[in-house]
Amino acid sequence: MNSTLVIGSQFGDEGKGKIVDYLAEKADCVVRYQGGNNAGHTVVVNGKIFKLHLLPSGTIRKKNSFIGAGVALDPRVLKQEIASLEKEGIKVNLHIDPRCHIVLPYHNIIDIGKEEALKEKNIGTTRRGMGPCYSDRASRIGIRFDDLVAEKRFKEKLDWNFPYYVDLCKKVLGKTFDFTQEEVFQEYVSLGKEFKKYLTDVSIAVNNCLDKGKNVLFEGAQGTLLDNDFGTYPFVTSSHPTSGAATTGVGVAPQKLKTVIGIVKAYTTRVGAGPFPTELKGEEANTLRNAGNEFGTTTGRPRRVGWLDLPLLRLSNRLNGFTELTITKLDVLSGMKKLFIADSYTLEGNKVFEFPYANHLVEKVTPNYVEFEGFTLEEKNKENLREKGFSALPYTAKKYLSFIENKINVPIKMVSFGAERNDLLKK
Ligand code: IMP
Ligand code: MG
Repeated sequence: MNSTLVIGSQFGDEGKGKIVDYLAEKADCVVRYQGGNNAGHTVVVNGKIFKLHLLPSGTIRKKNSFIGAGVALDPRVLKQEIASLEKEGIKVNLHIDPRCHIVLPYHNIIDIGKEEALKEKNIGTTRRGMGPCYSDRASRIGIRFDDLVAEKRFKEKLDWNFPYYVDLCKKVLGKTFDFTQEEVFQEYVSLGKEFKKYLTDVSIAVNNCLDKGKNVLFEGAQGTLLDNDFGTYPFVTSSHPTSGAATTGVGVAPQKLKTVIGIVKAYTTRVGAGPFPTELKGEEANTLRNAGNEFGTTTGRPRRVGWLDLPLLRLSNRLNGFTELTITKLDVLSGMKKLFIADSYTLEGNKVFEFPYANHLVEKVTPNYVEFEGFTLEEKNKENLREKGFSALPYTAKKYLSFIENKINVPIKMVSFGAERNDLLKK
């Protein structure tokens, strides 16, 4: 049994796509288990940029790909992504669990309508219909992949859902649809027919892979602080971007999960609203945002940026049980004179090391920073790194990294210092 989980330790966008791509080389199977096309995973291969939202990033490596039961699946997006990879000569080898819930066009409208109705209290969702789709699942009115592939079952479910949401959207949210039930039915039945060949009991298939000792790579989407329970609720996503979700979102037992890699960006970013204790503002923020090209893969929104936050990472490590860490985008900090890491917070006069359980407390914290000398990672340093590995890191960068390692008490096994596949140090 050989399984690896890749988990976002912060607010998402930690650079999981690149690490997954590297790990996928040795994987036999790649699996997604939560979230949907709210995710945006960027992978750069020989200068070519791939942006995937729904398919596991390992699909680019032509691996056996699985979409587990816990994924909210938008079939329109799936169709586009399969087509875009096939255009590049990448044939997808895909398996979709029949239990996956389907995102339908009315979910997007409800997502937008709710955000508008919340006014200044809006969450800043990706507007991809995630909340409404997962709400249907929890309310037990959802339409699953198993229904999509069967015209009769799909019709029955749509006959109930569609008029219900026409009414709700009109009366409660003041939104009308620019599509009819019949149009949705025709389009989605045809998508169902096209995708029927992918239907597989993913729980059985992945368990078989694990039992045969194959390498299975579980690709998390979003980040831990966006967890529906343990994140900064209500400024969170509607699924669980934590390691436990790999069990419920695929249908495998927890003891089958072995290596849990926490992906930690060398600083912190957040897209959308919600508390962010180490956030930077003004010129400092602009410099970091531009250096890191911190603009959303899915929505293009400028990301909020700030220093690395250890109370946040302690929460993340507690929830996920990281066996190793990967630090990403270290090169983005290059050239900054001083760097800062928040080791603790002051909350109502007390020093606290753990991330508080609720936003009204998180909003009151002041980070206590430890200051570090900056470092330079220019092209010539990068060449050196590619050749010599970890030892070639500037002394001050090593100090920055070992501080994180010692404080979180999890070994750093990889460090990424650029977008390309080769810009990766391994221990
Ligand atoms: P939703 O997942 O679209 O409902 O959005 C809920 C919150 O999660 C918003 O703050 C989004 O910006 C954030 N979010 C969702 N997916 C991602 C992601 O893949 N990366 C970063 N933030 C995300
Ligand atoms: Mg992303």
